[in-house]
Amino acid sequence: MSEKISVLISEETVNKKIKELGEQISRDYAGKQIHLICILKGGAFFACELAKRISIPVSIDFMQVSSYENSTTSSGIVRIKKDLDESLEDKEVLIVEDIIDTGNTLHYLIPVLLARKPSSLKLCALLNKPDRRQKEVEISYLGFDIPDEFVIGYGLDYAQKYRNLPYIGVVELDQDDTE
Ligand code: IMP
Ligand code: MG
Repeated sequence: MSEKISVLISEETVNKKIKELGEQISRDYAGKQIHLICILKGGAFFACELAKRISIPVSIDFMQVSSYENSTTSSGIVRIKKDLDESLEDKEVLIVEDIIDTGNTLHYLIPVLLARKPSSLKLCALLNKPDRRQKEVEISYLGFDIPDEFVIGYGLDYAQKYRNLPYIGVVELDQDDTE
């Protein structure tokens, strides 16, 4: 079985949207410093591009949580694999995530981070699949709502592949190819 990729959101459209989000965040947090929390691994590509488009002072920290383990369905189990290096106390914190799918990951993570006493805590996601939601999550900054399809690229993987694609694509498994 081979995999075919079709483009869902082009590189140009994604980059334009990230520029807009960066400008909006810079306006909303004017006069402040923003602390980005990048959720590894998927959020890394988006977080770097977003950070470059933010014109106010930015600091960044990284966290890894487990959600999908080489599978296209959510286990619903969330585990912190790598915690933040720095305290969140009195910081204007913005979580940067690749996609909100069932909502399980962020539903778990937001109270954990709030307990660390940031001045504020908001969520920025590149993609959202509203049809898949199991737990409510408030997304303050969103790139795109997408249909219930498994997407790859711009940090999103299929069995650890395709994160490096500069656009958002959909994997189509070619059933005719028996290899
Ligand atoms: P949630 O907890 O179901 O919201 O899932 C969040 C995580 O699942 C995301 O951070 C992604 O790592 C992964 N995920 C959800 N949907 C997709 C997809 O379509 N492609 C690749 N990864 C996905
Ligand atoms: Mg993720």
